[in-house]
Amino acid sequence: MITIAIGKGRMQDSALELLARAGIRLSDEAVNSRRLALVDETGQYRFIFVKPADVPVYVEHGIADCGIVGRDVLLESEADLLLPLDLGISRCRIVVAAADANAMTNVQGMLRVATKYAQIARAHFGARGIPVEIIQLSGSVELAPALGLADLIVDLVETGVTLRENGLTVVEEIAISTGRLVVNRASYQLKTNEVGKLVKTLETVV
Ligand code: PRP
Repeated sequence: MITIAIGKGRMQDSALELLARAGIRLSDEAVNSRRLALVDETGQYRFIFVKPADVPVYVEHGIADCGIVGRDVLLESEADLLLPLDLGISRCRIVVAAADANAMTNVQGMLRVATKYAQIARAHFGARGIPVEIIQLSGSVELAPALGLADLIVDLVETGVTLRENGLTVVEEIAISTGRLVVNRASYQLKTNEVGKLVKTLETVV
């Protein structure tokens, strides 16, 4: 049996939908339960549902053989994983946004950047030689500029509604994020047939 870690929340529904199209299904009863570890109808796959940021951790440590997680999470993680497949699900953008479209030039002194994505933000501004103070938040990042906590935010944008309703506009795009299949290095060697079968099966529906 292969264990697949799935990020709860934004990615979960589209991941389960994609797997179902590939013939890998969980019963409705299982999906609607509060159990965090479930086996699919064929008994070939065990799913564990964890916080998105923990998917790379479970897969790197081999607790899960594979995982489905957004590129945003992978860019933020330092886990050493194989990435055989872009699943194309949950497409969104990682952007720099601000209330003032010219915030990058208008702000005096060091720019303050609020984000859940400290690594991505640091790398982005570092590569451009712009010194910034990173303010790490865990969510509701769009509030930070209006409340005076930050000049800019780095965050995910899917529909753009959250930015708009909080008076923010995109200043720069950093990257596109989609759901990825990730695989543990040892599992890729030791469970070649099972992992290969999963990759091939998913390839047919991507
Ligand atoms: C994400 C992101 C934005 C929002 C963008 O948050 O951080 O807040 O979704 O979506 P939109 O462009 O469709 O409005 P998420 O729902 O993951 O919650 P969180 O901020 O509390 O982590």
